[in-house]
Amino acid sequence: MMMRASTAERSTSALECASGLSSTLKCGSLLSVGSLTLDDVSAILQLATQLENEDPLERAKRLAKRRIALLFYEASTRTRTSFELAAKGLGADTTLVSNLSSSIEKGETLKDTGLTLRALGAEAIILRHPSSGAPWLLERETGLPVLNAGDGMHEHPSQALLDLRTMMRHLRPGVEGVNAETLAGVTVVVTGDILHSRVARSNMLLLPRLGARVILCGPEKLLPEVAAEAGPGIEVERDLEHAMRQAQVVMMLRIQAERLAGLHLDLEEYKSGYQLTEARLAACAPQASVMHPGPIVRGLELTGEVADGPQSLILEQVHHGVAIRMALVLRALTLRGLTPHGEGRPA
Ligand code: CP
Repeated sequence: MMMRASTAERSTSALECASGLSSTLKCGSLLSVGSLTLDDVSAILQLATQLENEDPLERAKRLAKRRIALLFYEASTRTRTSFELAAKGLGADTTLVSNLSSSIEKGETLKDTGLTLRALGAEAIILRHPSSGAPWLLERETGLPVLNAGDGMHEHPSQALLDLRTMMRHLRPGVEGVNAETLAGVTVVVTGDILHSRVARSNMLLLPRLGARVILCGPEKLLPEVAAEAGPGIEVERDLEHAMRQAQVVMMLRIQAERLAGLHLDLEEYKSGYQLTEARLAACAPQASVMHPGPIVRGLELTGEVADGPQSLILEQVHHGVAIRMALVLRALTLRGLTPHGEGRPA
């Protein structure tokens, strides 16, 4: 089942929310990274740092006893845990509803589950769902702010934001504000299962707007040639070593086995062309940062030595997830856009 939000649905949502601020911020939702202005991105990064540095007792007063629901229809470790820790760090009460241990198993729809959570006092819902567009439907049906924690093969906006924070810490240390030149001169090689990756899609929407060149790399089955037309700043390259020689960041992706839908891949052939090994890294990108949204599959898209090696930022990405998600949760429960200095802060 696919639930792609139509243009009309998105327009309705935007109209309902429009009032001078970008729709996602006015409503508190974050559905697509593409709807954020660069000022929004900058404000989120600054707010993340402000919250990270704040005294934990003071921080926990910000959303004390406010209710946030985590609604997860797919497995997650990093996103679920970091959103939960972020909400709790702000003092909110959280509850987790998973498809495996709830009335979803009995056939309850997304709409009815959302309305039930709202009736229980949830003021925002963090949603992971296998269907692209599900967060738009949930926002429309509940009227609550929705944070997209990954919808099918479509988007994973909070991952792109934490990836950006990780890159900036390494490539632009000390810079929090972003503009169209922030990643100018930076080449990010995204390698692997681009076709099924919501992380790739959100990064493709965000990074070129900051001036980055994004080279997509993988076999035709996982990276159709048409991807080169995804937008300015996006290229397709089949030769990993050629791509890596140009990279400041090499972002590896897992093969999304759960989304292959019968597509057959020869894994030995895949590894020979696209696995990130110590030898490849040393020969082609000895200074580059290695990133991966996780979960990693050691011995498939990259070796354990690379994952644990000095160029790997994989656990640092996980770490940045909490600060970014604190900023997003705080925004979600704020009717008007927050500034890093607390304007518009909930009473
Ligand atoms: N990166 C990511 O979304 O990881 P999880 O599936 O563990 O949340």
